[in-house]
Amino acid sequence: MNSRLGRWSAGVLFAALATVPGTLGARTAAEKPAVRDVERAQFPAPEASLEKLKRTADLGGQRRHLWHVLGELTRSHSPSRLPQFLTWSGAKDVFAITSAAPLATRSPLRAFEVEESAAARAAHSSGPPLIVVAHYNEAAARHIRANALQRRATLQSMTVSRKGGKLDTVSRDVPTFPRSAIVLKSAWWPVAGDAPVAMPVWDAELHIAAAGGNDYPSWRRMVAVCPTHGAPRTVEVQLMGRTRRLNCVGIDRFYHLRLDAAMVEQLRNEPTARKLAAMVLGRGFRTGDHLALVALHVATRELPDWVWGTLWWHDSAMSGPFAADRPKNLGGPWSNYLMNVAFDAVHPRERDGSPRVVFNPWLEARFADSGQGSGMVSNCISCHQRATYPAIGPFEVTRGARKNTQAAGTIASVETSSLWSLPLQAH
Ligand code: HEC
Repeated sequence: MNSRLGRWSAGVLFAALATVPGTLGARTAAEKPAVRDVERAQFPAPEASLEKLKRTADLGGQRRHLWHVLGELTRSHSPSRLPQFLTWSGAKDVFAITSAAPLATRSPLRAFEVEESAAARAAHSSGPPLIVVAHYNEAAARHIRANALQRRATLQSMTVSRKGGKLDTVSRDVPTFPRSAIVLKSAWWPVAGDAPVAMPVWDAELHIAAAGGNDYPSWRRMVAVCPTHGAPRTVEVQLMGRTRRLNCVGIDRFYHLRLDAAMVEQLRNEPTARKLAAMVLGRGFRTGDHLALVALHVATRELPDWVWGTLWWHDSAMSGPFAADRPKNLGGPWSNYLMNVAFDAVHPRERDGSPRVVFNPWLEARFADSGQGSGMVSNCISCHQRATYPAIGPFEVTRGARKNTQAAGTIASVETSSLWSLPLQAH
């Protein structure tokens, strides 16, 4: 196995996802060497050091930690040669009603086997389409299945009544996730195998927050993503009813997947992907087309409120605050992504003294202003720390630390360890 994280995940692959409740604490002999590997790889990093990075609002240290984690997640997996995270479980595996198929018999890229819940579909169907998939590492997926957190009945049984704005008893959370749990969300743009396509690019300094959100159709600039060989410098392309002459960037500057027949079939069955293909390619997906990675969210359970980071593609990603501290070994297409990190909902504060802003243009800029600002001033933790079953206001932007009044209500609820997918996807 070619990577430390890879060795570690292979070490726990022996267990099918549908672990019987109660076996989680019992370590088997097969797991022990894997645990040693995790320590050697410094993942999860010691909690005390991460707490210190958070307490001292040490942005440089926080960024270096996130780059390190991203380096491990994107390292090539053997023998598939995919980045590690693309070999993990998708939401369909994790939230399946029946027990998920044993890992060994499932193909990589299973994250793309989307089966969105009604709630998730409703959330995405209104806006401009984007292919968004979630990825759960072994530790996260096993914890969810072992505790049956993919079932609404389990979450319901954990709810606690809140009366008069106060909790009846101590606030309850779902069983504590292991610190090695990682959950990602990735976003993809279609690129034709045989022709350039237009793609919006987010330039942070050009945008003014709009009350209705700043989703990609409103972005000021676009590039053309072109086949690498013999591509001209500029090319005329059409998107969203407008034809423009745009600069060409090669598909090799993105992490991208070339679609085989099976993936084409999968994507053709998925309404959002079909809509996006029609809009960008002007036709359905075909074998030989590509999906280019435009955004990647990462959350690790290394701290109780999780550690959050996010990547997005940019055509000049070598400078500026979001390129800072990128390690040299994160080469290839990965050097074209900018990154931001959230260890805290407030600190380090923004220049104007307001709580810290951390968002991904592809995934959060779209959120409308519902009183505390739009997606452009959102922060991963400020939103995710409100995750409860049942879900209340999952797409509402809040700023800063959680206020007790936000969590309180008269309905019975349970916190879902910062994961919104639990209340939104559970069956
Ligand atoms: C205003 C609310 C909001 C903000 C801000 C937000 N998210 Fe989320 N996030 C959600 C919701 C709702 C979901 C689940 C539904 C979906 O996939 O769209 C989700 C899903 C996720 C998931 C999949 C796992 C899960 O169960 O929650 C990850 C990982 C994630 N977000 C990371 C981030 C990161 C990193 C940031 C900050 C850069 C961020 N989110 C900002 C609302 C938010």
